[in-house]
Amino acid sequence: MGLELKMEKHVKYILSIEKKNDDAFESVVMEHLRLNGAYWGLTTLDVLGKLDAVDQDKVVSWVLQCQHESGGFGGNIGHDPHLLYTLSAIQVLALFDKIDVLDVEKVADIASLQNEDGSFSGDMWGEVDTRFSYIAICSLALLHRLDKINVERAVKYIVSCKNLDGGFGCTPGGESHAGQIFCCVGALAITGSLHHVDKDLLGWWLCERQVKSGGLNGRPEKLPDVCYSWWVLSSLIMIDRVHWIDKEKLVEFILNCQDKENGGISDRPDDAVDVFHTYFGVAGLSLLEYPGLKAIDPAYALPVDVVNRIFVGK
Ligand code: FPP
Ligand code: ZN
Repeated sequence: MGLELKMEKHVKYILSIEKKNDDAFESVVMEHLRLNGAYWGLTTLDVLGKLDAVDQDKVVSWVLQCQHESGGFGGNIGHDPHLLYTLSAIQVLALFDKIDVLDVEKVADIASLQNEDGSFSGDMWGEVDTRFSYIAICSLALLHRLDKINVERAVKYIVSCKNLDGGFGCTPGGESHAGQIFCCVGALAITGSLHHVDKDLLGWWLCERQVKSGGLNGRPEKLPDVCYSWWVLSSLIMIDRVHWIDKEKLVEFILNCQDKENGGISDRPDDAVDVFHTYFGVAGLSLLEYPGLKAIDPAYALPVDVVNRIFVGK
């Protein structure tokens, strides 16, 4: 059908948002999410083999300016710190092999966001969510400081969010949702605790997310969305059940969400593109072993060579 990934167009699209940053509509709307946006955009470039097109010193110095005295990071300079941005900061530095510019002890103080029951709050205001369990565990693992938290209790809390359908929610009793499942399965994978997952049961729930068009949704009865290519696929890979979905049809769905002229990927065919769905589309294709893309690690959401550099020391 002549459908292919428009790699050069996507590189151009990502570089154009980086450049425009102060006047582009998207960056005004996403001002407070700038660190997340940088992680999505830069990881996309790396998976496409074009990370060297950005000024690494400029990015590293801006990331450091987003850091607070507490050690955590805000979404932009002068914004309040939150775990959501702290992981993105660590991931962006990891892409450039620059984690060593951090005062690791200070950043690892995010461990103080762990509560008595093993759960994590996202910031000093206390909202609890399994997203924050994943973020704290992934961040501390990348810093080699998982010893700062009570891993056993953290795992116990995540397991308490497991539902009868095999999935996981935000808090105990919360509805299963593919995004939360990625967080819980990812945190269990990083801590070597995947034996707590009923892989066949969860595998079924996850592969039932594939709809007629080949796309994946995040919950029953919802529309398919490119970002769920990441949340669902990465989870299926971690539990070794990715062969339960139709990979070719999913590739076709993602490729149909591209803006073939100007680059970028949208949530569904013919919608407006954004950097979030461009990242998860490209990352999803990488998980599907689409040719010409760097492999990405399903638990750390970073290219495999970056993860190896951190843990194997290559
Ligand atoms: C769906 O969000 C996604 C989630 C709930 C998971 C979010 C995970 C993180 C923030 C952890 C960090 C992630 C990575 C990849 C390093 P949504 O608001 O789009 O859900 P909806 O589709 O139900 O609206
Ligand atoms: Zn989406």
